[in-house]
Amino acid sequence: MTTWAFIGSGNIGSTVARLAIDAGHGVVMSNSRGPETLTELVDQLGPQARAATAAEAALAGDVVVVTIPLKAYRDVPVAELAGKIVIDTMNYYPQRDGDVAELDDESTTTSELLQAHLPESRVVKAFNNIFFGHLAALGRPTGDPARSALAIAGDDAAAKQTVTSLLNSIGYDTVDLGALAQGWRTQRDTAAYGVMYAADPQDWSKGAKSVDTSTVAAAAASSKRYRDMPSAG
Ligand SMILES: NC(=O)c1ccc[n+]([C@@H]2O[C@H](COP(=O)([O-])OP(=O)(O)OC[C@H]3O[C@@H](n4cnc5c(N)ncnc54)[C@H](OP(=O)(O)O)[C@@H]3O)[C@@H](O)[C@H]2O)c1
Repeated sequence: MTTWAFIGSGNIGSTVARLAIDAGHGVVMSNSRGPETLTELVDQLGPQARAATAAEAALAGDVVVVTIPLKAYRDVPVAELAGKIVIDTMNYYPQRDGDVAELDDESTTTSELLQAHLPESRVVKAFNNIFFGHLAALGRPTGDPARSALAIAGDDAAAKQTVTSLLNSIGYDTVDLGALAQGWRTQRDTAAYGVMYAADPQDWSKGAKSVDTSTVAAAAASSKRYRDMPSAG
């Protein structure tokens, strides 16, 4: 059993927590408002779940999932996460997060920003390009022909190996995109962002579609930078 801690307990945090618990892991949930606001969620998740502050969760996790709006990434505890594997699910939406110059000019990527904030941690990008409802629905045991794959990226090979094995335990194959700098391949509006997992690409609420490793890899390989998209500029 691995303890998964969550900084952020919203749509994606609570969905990954449910998958982790169903796979026999333990979870520690946190948010910005305090553990007392997470009672209902923890009750739903059951005895393998508890709530804590973000700093306590960071200390408690064998692996820590950062799953908050990108604008809040500087609030993520630094010292408590030193040496740990940190899974980053965040995406950049300027309307929500405000303008971030180095993302607008594509001189860095979202997960590299988090890695720079957490220099002693080992950041692995995952879960950012799948709608939480599809993530909840698509997990399958190893060997199931309808098993889906999730993309990961990171600079630390051992951390990626651990995340691959954790994703395997919660029902997903993995496609390694390479270094953290390759994480742009699954960012908002790319070919590998979200839509491939939707049964109806026009309406993501209409259910999920399984996507295998070669399809995820091909979509990521065909992704374009914003500056190279026809609508850019
Ligand atoms: N929704 C999706 O399907 C999806 C899919 C892939 C990736 N993502 C990305 O994953 C991230 C989370 O998305 P979401 O949809 O799960 O968001 P959400 O439902 O709005 O939940 C956000 C969570 O972050 C917490 N939070 C906010 N500021 C915080 C801070 N400073 N410290 C600690 N916790 C904080 C919130 O707690 P409080 O309410 O207490 O502030 C809440 O629990 C975003 O970057 C999003 O772009 C989302």
